[in-house]
Amino acid sequence: MSTFAAVTVTVAGLTGKEPVHCSRNVIICPDSSLEEASKKGPYDVVLLPGGALGAQNLSESPAVKEVLKEQESRKGLIAAICAGPTALLAHGIAYGSTITTHPGAKDKMMTGDHYKYTEARVQKDGHLITSRGPGTSFEFALAIVEELMGAEVVAQVKAPLILKD
Ligand SMILES: *[C@@H]1O[C@H](CO)[C@@H](O)[C@H](O)[C@H]1NC(C)=O
Repeated sequence: MSTFAAVTVTVAGLTGKEPVHCSRNVIICPDSSLEEASKKGPYDVVLLPGGALGAQNLSESPAVKEVLKEQESRKGLIAAICAGPTALLAHGIAYGSTITTHPGAKDKMMTGDHYKYTEARVQKDGHLITSRGPGTSFEFALAIVEELMGAEVVAQVKAPLILKD
């Protein structure tokens, strides 16, 4: 488990606790399996990362659908970045919302016209926060922190990140 802005983060692996081979040969070691992690919920936010294959895997997973449906039904925060939002489409989550995605995932996301598309770097609509790609990931993270912890905490964690103004 890691922490950011005093928020404890659990990285859950779809198929288990084994290291996941991600986009660009990045290896991520999950804190626990999704199955184990979902037993410890509910969570303040459920976040879907991007990566074409990762998003595909999230889209095909009944366990992810269950976690998202449960989070949506309790009006909990859901966040997705890059190709990650396409898993929301696959699982019928937050239809009608204004969203953004990686430009390369736009066509897929708009299949069936279930969302309103924006090119905002970070888009918040109700209990949903979406964002576009690696270069927007800090803004995305800070938008989530603002939602969970408030603007003051954002100001505290933002300064030492040395972001460009
Ligand atoms: C996606 O699923 C395949 C098949 O289970 C697996 O080999 C691959 O590592 C997974 N990739 C990601 C990023 O989840």
